[in-house]
Amino acid sequence: MRTGVAILSLVSVLIPAASTQFTLADVYVGNDFFNGWSWQTINDPTNGRVNYVSQGVARGMNLSYATDTKFFMRADDYNIVPPNTRGRNSVRILSNKAYGDSLAVLDLQHMPEGCSTWPAFWSLSQKGPWPAGGEIDIIEGVNMDTQNLMSLHTSPGCTMPQQRLETGTVTSTNCDANVNYNQGCGVQDAAGSFGVPFNARGGGWYAMARTQQDGIRVWFWPRDSPDVPLAVRAPVPGLFPTIMPDPTWGAPVAAFPIGPYCDYAAHFDAHQFVFDLTFCGDLAGNVYTSTGCSGSCVDFVNNNPQAFTNAYWEVNSLRIYTATETPYPPIV
Ligand SMILES: *[C@@H]1O[C@H](CO)[C@@H](O)[C@H](O)[C@H]1NC(C)=O
Repeated sequence: MRTGVAILSLVSVLIPAASTQFTLADVYVGNDFFNGWSWQTINDPTNGRVNYVSQGVARGMNLSYATDTKFFMRADDYNIVPPNTRGRNSVRILSNKAYGDSLAVLDLQHMPEGCSTWPAFWSLSQKGPWPAGGEIDIIEGVNMDTQNLMSLHTSPGCTMPQQRLETGTVTSTNCDANVNYNQGCGVQDAAGSFGVPFNARGGGWYAMARTQQDGIRVWFWPRDSPDVPLAVRAPVPGLFPTIMPDPTWGAPVAAFPIGPYCDYAAHFDAHQFVFDLTFCGDLAGNVYTSTGCSGSCVDFVNNNPQAFTNAYWEVNSLRIYTATETPYPPIV
């Protein structure tokens, strides 16, 4: 009996007693992106060799394209980039809607790959100004990386414990964007979660849940995984009106628990989602030769349009569920 009690109490420490159910709020498939998202033409805040174009230009050049079931965003793989321009034509899109406590499931077939590329799928505070309200990076990597990096960037006073219930590897624990040159607090996934090997296996599913109660968690299932929960796989987007991370989901790849070392309400508010694809810049440019590439990053971007044929996002769907917090069950 004593052993049984000990095991039960250990389990209750690892798995929160209360659970949050999430209800489907929005499904973005194909043309939904043209209606529900904005094409940002800003100068890249991360100093990339990129020219973000409007929706009209992107559609005219086929840098953004949709069918009933697919949405594509790509780099210009046709033109040489003249010296006195912002850079290679590409796309950065922002969801018109912002979401608080929620669970996002991205069914992604292909992500941009190759030297000089720096694609990301992330969310940031609608209110800002950055980093107020927080930033959550769900997919990020550069150049020939094969491992996805998930991280938070926050205002001061948010750190993560080294030991957490997660399968990924902690790379840094201070989320404050003002320290460590804005490294943020990161967790790295295994090989195959990013870039060329991710695309070779047909991509997969990313899920990011954020609640006051359980903090911020990210899961990843590759296309060939036998363990994808049915509600995540959802052969028809929107088939399941509710979703709830339960023990069958397994431990998240990255867990960012909220507590005394990082107050949730003080650091995170309603976020808009972003997909972008920049080149070189603060990250991909600075680690160009240590992440599988050689020579000058900017020269490569300028002169090799044919190298960007696989620098595209192919999105099957993005579903956003919003949280319905359920009360803690009575303590027995
Ligand atoms: C536009 O891009 C899509 C997606 O890559 C592709 O299937 C389609 O053939 C392209 N259209 C043209 C006219 O090139």
